[in-house]
Amino acid sequence: MTEKTLKTRLGKRLKALFERIPAETDCFYDLCCDHGAIGRAVLEQRERCHVVFNDIHPDIMASLANLLERFQAENYRLAIGPAQQAPSIPAQHPTVLLAGIGDEQCLEILNYFMDQDATRHAHYIISPATKVHNVRKWLRSQNTNLLHESTVTENKRTYEIIEVNRGLDGTRCEVDLFGHCWENGNPQHQNHLAKLIAFYAAQQKGKLESYSKAVVDGYQLALKKISTPS
Ligand SMILES: C[S@@+](CC[C@H](N)C(=O)[O-])C[C@H]1O[C@@H](n2cnc3c(N)ncnc32)[C@H](O)[C@@H]1O
Repeated sequence: MTEKTLKTRLGKRLKALFERIPAETDCFYDLCCDHGAIGRAVLEQRERCHVVFNDIHPDIMASLANLLERFQAENYRLAIGPAQQAPSIPAQHPTVLLAGIGDEQCLEILNYFMDQDATRHAHYIISPATKVHNVRKWLRSQNTNLLHESTVTENKRTYEIIEVNRGLDGTRCEVDLFGHCWENGNPQHQNHLAKLIAFYAAQQKGKLESYSKAVVDGYQLALKKISTPS
């Protein structure tokens, strides 16, 4: 997106997500939007882009409705309720943003949106709050096409941002189970991977789950690759 001064203030993480919205987007879904800051920024910058704000909490959506009225915004729709049942609108270049929620809900919502006629061909920007590995695994099982991967670190926490589409034109770049976004020598990336290893190693203890072991091994390999001086 081209830079104009935004009235809507975005922190570092939200700005990174906002900047990944493709220029051609004509319908933007801000799912599980909370304060809806990214959708509001889209309304500010893209006069012709329709925005669907979704959140399950009526109170959150009531505050957002007030804000949008004060802002004299047009070209938007509020979808109050579970994103798993949110309405979709026919568009040529829809973009669906799903950030800040847990892996299980994330998969349910993606499953629903990727199956709707209006959003089957959408560009998906996904940044789960937990267990990104599960989301990667599911995206891979669905044969989605990886478009881009990046990370953003805010308040000492690193978030993965995965962009996919369904590859309906036959293009297929497989989503990696452990990510391709790690930079050699990047301490934030090393720290993030070390935290993931500790998390899955703790799950392994007592249970000796082979799944957790495979995840620990995968992340250990990723960490080793970016910790070796080249
Ligand atoms: C931590 S906030 C994330 C907000 C924003 N997407 C972000 O990344 O900053 C999670 C929001 O998801 C909403 N939420 C949780 N489950 C939901 C669901 N199934 N459908 C719609 N909204 C949901 C909550 O009400 C909350 O506002």
